[in-house]
Amino acid sequence: MTTAETRTGRCPVIHNGGEDYGYEPFQMKDPFPSYERLREEAPIAFDERIGYYVVTRYDDIKAIFADPHTFSSENTAAPVRPYGPPAKQIMADGGFSVYSGLSSRQPPEHTRIRSAVVKGFTPRRLRQLEPAIRERVTELLDAMLGAPDEQGEIVRDIAYDLPTETILKLIGADPHMVTTFKRWSDSRAAMTWADLDDEQQIPHAHNLVDYWQECQRIVSRWKESPGDNFTSDLLRAQAEGDPITDHEIASVLYSLLFAGHETTTTLIANTLRVLLPAREQWQAIVADPTAIPAAVEEVLRYSGSIVAWRRRATRDAEIAGVPIPQGADILLVIGSANRDASRFPDPDAFDVSRPNVREHLSFGFGIHTCIGAPLARMQVKVVLEELTRRVPQLRAVDPDGIEFRENLSFRVPTAVPVAWDEV
Ligand code: HEM
Repeated sequence: MTTAETRTGRCPVIHNGGEDYGYEPFQMKDPFPSYERLREEAPIAFDERIGYYVVTRYDDIKAIFADPHTFSSENTAAPVRPYGPPAKQIMADGGFSVYSGLSSRQPPEHTRIRSAVVKGFTPRRLRQLEPAIRERVTELLDAMLGAPDEQGEIVRDIAYDLPTETILKLIGADPHMVTTFKRWSDSRAAMTWADLDDEQQIPHAHNLVDYWQECQRIVSRWKESPGDNFTSDLLRAQAEGDPITDHEIASVLYSLLFAGHETTTTLIANTLRVLLPAREQWQAIVADPTAIPAAVEEVLRYSGSIVAWRRRATRDAEIAGVPIPQGADILLVIGSANRDASRFPDPDAFDVSRPNVREHLSFGFGIHTCIGAPLARMQVKVVLEELTRRVPQLRAVDPDGIEFRENLSFRVPTAVPVAWDEV
């Protein structure tokens, strides 16, 4: 371990190879031992490979989230690996002109747009959505449980379609475009948070152009004749004088058509991946479904969909005594904060009865806190209610063999195989 003198003051530096702490920022299979080492040995370290200050302790991360004037979110949607010339050309030719809907915007613009967007996520609208979500879960489960070999796969059979259909319906997008939006979202995740070279970026750049054009089409379509959906709500508010432009509404759709399903797909997958092998805890929610919301929170803490999120220093600052220069990029390792023993005793134990579990940072904190958290929680709750009621004997198949996609921020299991015995 060495210390960078000029740029980082007293801060330890993680070099190429990453052997210092076992930290590999894009490796998601089991990053938790490296997070623990970082928390203990180098809670603020500069990772030369990605050019980010890596922050791993709960209190430091929460303090950064809580101070948006010093630590702005302007870099959250920036590509970790800058777009190469071919991708740039494709995007310019396709009129790609979006950067972020909300997450990277700054006050006062962020405050103005967020206040329009939250009106579309009222508790009333969520209550309206729940019966249709339950009906859809029932259909998906009927199909899965009809498998003759009594084997299923949670991502493919439930988690992939459900949140995507929900957000498409909410927004007023074509509900038949689930696969297309999933493909575009995969491209967005790869282009922004993965480690792609110029050649690998090309197909994703085409997808981003198509994705953005569809967001603009959705706005034009509902502008012509408004309906009962989120996009029309924003357009009606605009017609009544809300200062939000068509481009801003399309940008919000660009955000929601990614954020609104990708992380919920992962949460459903992780919930079954983690809960089924923890047999006693699974049995506890089978016996008492009112314990489901607490179990979901513990999954969010223990194995959140997003393990790292970004900020940029707007001025020379300090984090826990370490000088951080103006303009520095900072990686907040939420997945590590959620395992910090100073906040969560015995942090590597999965325990659905943890009293302070809602203090996890999986939905962020502060002015950018996730607006879709209630929708995500509600969908996974419905899935668990139906699964525990209909197949209490459901079990995980080879949970330790599950693979995760390589990514800086999103910890996504590729498949969660399950099985059950007919009773
Ligand atoms: C398990 C599911 C989800 C997780 C783990 C998650 C996580 C997050 C995180 C970490 C942030 C950044 C917060 C910050 O910078 O302080 C965020 C922001 C956001 N999320 Fe979620 N999210 C989830 C589901 C959803 C859903 C279902 C929607 C929409 C329907 C949504 C929409 C958004 C939006 C629009 C923002 C930006 C808010 C802002 O900048 O003001 N998310 N989310």
